[in-house]
Amino acid sequence: MRKSVRAFTGEIVPIDVVQSIVLGANRAPSSKNTQPWKLILVQGAALENLRSDYQSAFNGGVKPADFEYVYSPDPLPDAYKKRAVELGKTFLAHKGIDRQNKEKRREHDGENYKFFGAKQVFFLALNKGEYALGTFLDCGIFFQTLIIELHNRGLGCCPQYSVMAYPDLLRKHIPNSEDQMFLLALPFGYPQKGHIANTFVSQREPLETFFRVVE
Ligand SMILES: Cc1cc2nc3c(=O)[nH]c(=O)nc-3n(C[C@H](O)[C@H](O)[C@H](O)COP(=O)(O)O)c2cc1C
Repeated sequence: MRKSVRAFTGEIVPIDVVQSIVLGANRAPSSKNTQPWKLILVQGAALENLRSDYQSAFNGGVKPADFEYVYSPDPLPDAYKKRAVELGKTFLAHKGIDRQNKEKRREHDGENYKFFGAKQVFFLALNKGEYALGTFLDCGIFFQTLIIELHNRGLGCCPQYSVMAYPDLLRKHIPNSEDQMFLLALPFGYPQKGHIANTFVSQREPLETFFRVVE
């Protein structure tokens, strides 16, 4: 079963393996075969420099708020909000973090801005101004295919919207990205088995709440 992985062994996935995974993801369908996605792998010194700037921004109190696109309806519909709150509560409880402990919660949130310690991070992007709602669907389908390709090879990953909060830092460290809109990050690697962050299993709604048959 696929689930998000938020702790990695630190072993680098060789570039030929990465390329084969990316080519597999590139078989994702898209409307009229438009393939609007762009994917950037950041690793090595470039990733460490980016991570360091993210750390300085987050720890220095720069509010993570500069998102270039809105992910969710505002306000969040009640049913969605309930699930989001439940996720937060259960994940913190799983990690043994008291919800009242602000320092520990900030540390927990801060893991995002370290890319969970991953040595390799994919960034999904599209060309600025060249999209409609469906383009985001195409990119999402590509992204999930990428996630499954990683999973099928024993690798783990965690999609991240949170880190889209500092687009200036992404543009600083990713050359020739002025004309791109960054959509999501995907830290990935070999899962650290048994790590508390990786033993958490998120809940799902029962089948009848989202699926019906008409005949
Ligand atoms: C678009 C998107 C953005 C996400 N952003 C974050 C994030 O910033 N930080 C994080 O820890 N998890 C993030 N997640 C992971 C979700 O919390 C996770 O997929 C959800 O709780 C279901 O758990 P599972 O992936 O383990 O099945 C994101 C997932 C998606 C699809």
